Amino acid sequence: MGHVSFLCKLRSPYVNNAEKYLRKIRYILSELELVRSLKTSPCLSTTEDAAKDCPVSRIRNFSIIAHVDHGKSTLADRLLEITGAIGHDSGNQVLDKLQVEKERGITVKAQTASLNYHYVGDRKIPQGQYLLNLIDTPGHVDFSGEVSRSLLACQGALLIVDANKGVQAQTAANYRLAITKGLTIIPVINKIDLKNADPERVYGQLKTLFDIDKNSVLKVSAKHGDGVEDVLKAIVKRIPSPPARLREPFRGLLFDSWFDRHRGAVLLLYIHDGSLSVGDQITSVNSGRSYEVKSLGMLRPQEEAHQTLSAGQVGYMTCNMRSPSEVCIGDTFHKKDEAVEQLPDLKKATPLVFAGIYPNDQSQYLALRSALEKLVLNDSTVSMVPDSSPALGQGWRLGFLGLLHMEVFGQRLEQEYGAEPVITAPSVTYKAKIMGAKNIKKYGKDEISFSNPTHFPDVQIISELYEPIVTATIITPDVYMGSIISLCVDRRGVQISSVNIDDERVMLQFSMPLNEIIVDFHDLIKSVSSGYASFDYETSGYAPSKLVKVNILLNGNIVEELSTICHVSKSARVGYQLCTKLKDLIPRQLFQVAVQASVGSKVVARENIKALRKDVTAKCYGGDISRKMKLLKRQAEGKKKMRMIGNIEVPKHTFISVLKR
Ligand code: GTP
Repeated sequence: MGHVSFLCKLRSPYVNNAEKYLRKIRYILSELELVRSLKTSPCLSTTEDAAKDCPVSRIRNFSIIAHVDHGKSTLADRLLEITGAIGHDSGNQVLDKLQVEKERGITVKAQTASLNYHYVGDRKIPQGQYLLNLIDTPGHVDFSGEVSRSLLACQGALLIVDANKGVQAQTAANYRLAITKGLTIIPVINKIDLKNADPERVYGQLKTLFDIDKNSVLKVSAKHGDGVEDVLKAIVKRIPSPPARLREPFRGLLFDSWFDRHRGAVLLLYIHDGSLSVGDQITSVNSGRSYEVKSLGMLRPQEEAHQTLSAGQVGYMTCNMRSPSEVCIGDTFHKKDEAVEQLPDLKKATPLVFAGIYPNDQSQYLALRSALEKLVLNDSTVSMVPDSSPALGQGWRLGFLGLLHMEVFGQRLEQEYGAEPVITAPSVTYKAKIMGAKNIKKYGKDEISFSNPTHFPDVQIISELYEPIVTATIITPDVYMGSIISLCVDRRGVQISSVNIDDERVMLQFSMPLNEIIVDFHDLIKSVSSGYASFDYETSGYAPSKLVKVNILLNGNIVEELSTICHVSKSARVGYQLCTKLKDLIPRQLFQVAVQASVGSKVVARENIKALRKDVTAKCYGGDISRKMKLLKRQAEGKKKMRMIGNIEVPKHTFISVLKR
């Protein structure tokens, strides 16, 4: 032991000196890089301040990640204010620009802002001007595609945790996402101003779940601005500069885009290597097409035009890209005729929930297609394939990451493009194993996937059916544990684990079928726990399941569009719900209509729509009763005949109401 301390004492002055020199060399190098970049910048205008062209060593790219409502956007506001990007009177959550975000009070779209920050602090780090590229991300599980896309352009992340609510399901999911991408995490406990804030408890949770050291955690009140300056300093000190190389040929990663009526597609690029200037000819690796750069700039958060963007920076570009189909998120751009290696492609999020989308009237088909293409450009996680329905006409089948995602997409279509389409009830993708050589030959493979109930294969040729399974994580105060477990079991969930994250909270994990959670599970979790439990899920493959197709029959005739897929144990309940809904929606006819739900040949539910009754005896004033009876008998016979030949008129709005959620 004595030897060790002696050696340490002996080594420490040398080690300290070496570190000091290394730091100095690094500092001089970075300053040299700054001077060089200022000199080499071809189109540097005098109005562009030094921060725009700051060396790579003075750039920090980071995201703000957290569970819903833990204060990401509020912290982003303060960071923007302190760095002078916005005034103190600019309002709240300025990065939540969409109408749907303002109405719902949630972030649905990641937003970028480049901030100039003058760092003064620990002398180990060069003091002076830094360029901080901030990406505020959504917190809801349905928008996790936005988070993973944003993290691609970052080297660090601020993990915000509410001092009152503590770690929640999405905190854990986002933490895992950032760690797997190799990002530096800065844990921040927010809302310390709240009366019932308990940062000590949150420290404990961060330690138990993520092994985060208490000393690395910052405490802030984003609302009042306390501790926010320390967050900025920590960003400069702890997050590494991007591994970008200024002298290499230009490579840019496309990680977001939106459509502008006048300029076409606006592309948000992370400049990985080299630099890009207005007028340059660039090529997309994905399509092989070349374009001329028309404009470049940074988001501060308003667009600020630049002549050049260089390595490590994040900025927008327009290049006369007119068709949304030319844009591919994750694409690499390079200078024309310069061979470069493609940047790691973005792993596309797999849509989990599917729904049909149709114009209200077929004359609006083209307008809806144009609106959809533009919106999908801004939300690349949505998948879109053409589809058609005899009842609703030509349309598309869209894939979303969840139900909220689907609702927000519909709302954005309405608010941003004035489209009011019919969106059908959500469903998931099932798989079926086909048997028999002849059938396999017919389908071209022995396993088929389908999300539309009308594509449910004939049961005679299926050997096994599979449904998508998720691992659901629920963090709840332990008093609500009983009701949450019974809700999960009712939804065919199987408990995997239960971990106490402190004296009051428990983290439960369940394996559950996806189709049991897509519609109302999140709302139910909130209602049984008085809003205290949080829920998150990730896909975990497929499992065999006893699935059936519930058919709807009107007077014995199957109406294909109204059929649905569910687990055999739920078929009677689902059938009953559909029949009662249809009973209210189908107008009464001159004859009785039987609304039946069947699985195969077995009827599982039935409702009758009574016939409209004409008072055939109205003209009989008094007289013999047998005359009235005769008229009623003749009417009954007529109706019987009508029922046999009757063709039931189901109005389009009935289909819409039933197919809609
Ligand atoms: P999503 O984007 O929807 O995930 O939410 P978010 O994480 O961006 O949270 P947001 O900034 O919208 O804040 C949610 C609520 O918390 C708002 O009502 C804020 O005013 C409030 N809030 C945020 N930070 C603080 C804080 O430090 N103290 C207090 N008391 N309230 C805060």
